[in-house]
Amino acid sequence: MMSLLSLAKGLPLFAACVLGSAKYPPIPADLTTPVQQRLAINGPSSVSVAWNTYKALTKPCVQYGTSASALSLQSCSTSSVTYPTSRTWANVVTLANLAPATTYYYKIVSTNSTVEHFFSPRVAGDKKPFNMSVVIDLGVYGANGYTIASNKAKRDTIPFIQPSLNHTTIGRLASTVDSYEFVVHPGDIGYADDWILTPANLFDGKDGYQAITETFFDQLAPIAGRKPYMTSPGNHEASCQEIPSTSGLCPAGQKNFTDFINRFGATMPTAFTSTSTSDAARVNANKAALLANPPFWFSFEYGMAHVVMIDTETDFANAPDQPGGSAKLGAGPFGSYANEQLDFLAADLASVDRTVTPWVIVAGHRPWYSTGDEQCEPCRLAFEPLLYKYGVDLAIFGHVHNSQRFAPTYNKTADPAGMNNPKAPMYIVAGGAGNIEGLSAAGTAQSYNRFVYADQFSYATVNFLDAQNLQVNFIRSDNGALLDTSTLFKKHNQQFVVQ
Ligand SMILES: *[C@@H]1O[C@H](CO)[C@@H](O)[C@H](O)[C@H]1NC(C)=O
Ligand SMILES: *[C@@H]1O[C@H](CO)[C@@H](O)[C@H](O)[C@H]1NC(C)=O
Ligand SMILES: *[C@@H]1O[C@H](CO)[C@@H](O)[C@H](O)[C@H]1NC(C)=O
Ligand SMILES: *[C@@H]1O[C@H](CO)[C@@H](O)[C@H](O)[C@H]1NC(C)=O
Ligand SMILES: *[C@@H]1O[C@H](CO)[C@@H](O)[C@H](O)[C@H]1NC(C)=O
Repeated sequence: MMSLLSLAKGLPLFAACVLGSAKYPPIPADLTTPVQQRLAINGPSSVSVAWNTYKALTKPCVQYGTSASALSLQSCSTSSVTYPTSRTWANVVTLANLAPATTYYYKIVSTNSTVEHFFSPRVAGDKKPFNMSVVIDLGVYGANGYTIASNKAKRDTIPFIQPSLNHTTIGRLASTVDSYEFVVHPGDIGYADDWILTPANLFDGKDGYQAITETFFDQLAPIAGRKPYMTSPGNHEASCQEIPSTSGLCPAGQKNFTDFINRFGATMPTAFTSTSTSDAARVNANKAALLANPPFWFSFEYGMAHVVMIDTETDFANAPDQPGGSAKLGAGPFGSYANEQLDFLAADLASVDRTVTPWVIVAGHRPWYSTGDEQCEPCRLAFEPLLYKYGVDLAIFGHVHNSQRFAPTYNKTADPAGMNNPKAPMYIVAGGAGNIEGLSAAGTAQSYNRFVYADQFSYATVNFLDAQNLQVNFIRSDNGALLDTSTLFKKHNQQFVVQ
């Protein structure tokens, strides 16, 4: 978030790069070395393994198996893509037909790679408790990101780590890695478009953007290469700069969500085939799969949860990042027709059989309920009616750089049932993970606000306790302190919710 117009005024944005000093990570001598590793849940029994290399691969391959010493299976693809201004190629291989909820070992095939492991997805309907971590507005760490040199009061105090495991939120995700099964990160991922906020980058232009991109995804790799990392777009993925009036000047490759598409387009799922006994549910799930447009809008099922990732940036009326939109980022649309995203969402939510996946979670970037002034009313008008109609349990957003929790709310009014079997969705903002722009002020609480925290970097975990109880915890990133906990009770005694 944050308008950078005032800051940018008068700066020589696209000056020649002779004086540039973008801090790129070193290029490994072995160009097949995997970097920027990232996993995603790609289907009910498949996981995509993606990574970048400093050269194109003709046949990216991954060896895998259930024993570290016997990687007896191998899967390959021909998917190795790049774009103008990128120094790297994005490779992706999908591992299919995995046994559910099983530890797999994998090795990206390279003359310089190591054996890693992941836990395969739970099948829809598995009622075992599990946790998911929620980070939004994360951002690069170190010289290209937030440092003491930039001296914003609440930024971290460690000047440079490469690659980093102690960016406070990434560090906490690392130290708690066995307590959650995947991460959702709906938007504002690496903050490459904030290259201009680091004075040393001023003369770098496109290299500043790329250096941050490479650095951030290297920093994230120890987490994203270990746990599925599910993303959807935020405004910081749109173009080379958040400064509206200059977005049109971005070089080819650094506008219209190019890196985001290149990196995640082939890794995220569409929508899963329904395992419901209902024909209508299966038809709706198939329709949703056809209308899904990963990495912008898509869904997946995992144990007790049906999770829908939405795009609050483009593809609905008055979408902020679209040409003519309020953010002036001039990106998208991405649907093959104007209403594709909302048609997807309607079909997808209608397909959810609560006897299989009792919990329905929607995650997107811009909130419409927030204590700050960044409340996306066009988003509310587009999405809220569908979330209410189909009884979504929890809606997750970021964009505002702090932690907030709201009572179950509909049409700006708290549900009279509170947390005891409400009809309206409960809302959270989990945008305090930490980035170069720093934290947002706590703002003004509305009557339906229940918690707000803006003192230190923080994030959320969503703990699926059982079919009726969902716990949402906010965690302080640097010391792991529990800042807020709440439990939503839902009877879930209706197979298909329509209200
Ligand atoms: C091998 O990979 C490691 C990191 O994974 C890197 O530091 C090292 O430079 C690579 N070696 C070569 C020869 O490229
Ligand atoms: C979920 O996280 C909580 C802490 O927030 C932890 O106590 C619990 O053991 C975790 N549950 C699972 C199934 O890992
Ligand atoms: C962060 O990592 C650096 C380098 O590994 C180390 O020197 C520093 O003590 C770490 N800081 C914290 C707070 O863990
Ligand atoms: C962005 O890309 C999409 C599809 O890739 C295209 O349809 C759309 O016109 C592009 N938007 C702009 C503003 O170039
Ligand atoms: C939302 O609330 C306003 C008044 O606050 C009311 O006029 C409107 O009809 C309500 N809309 C719905 C869909 O309930």
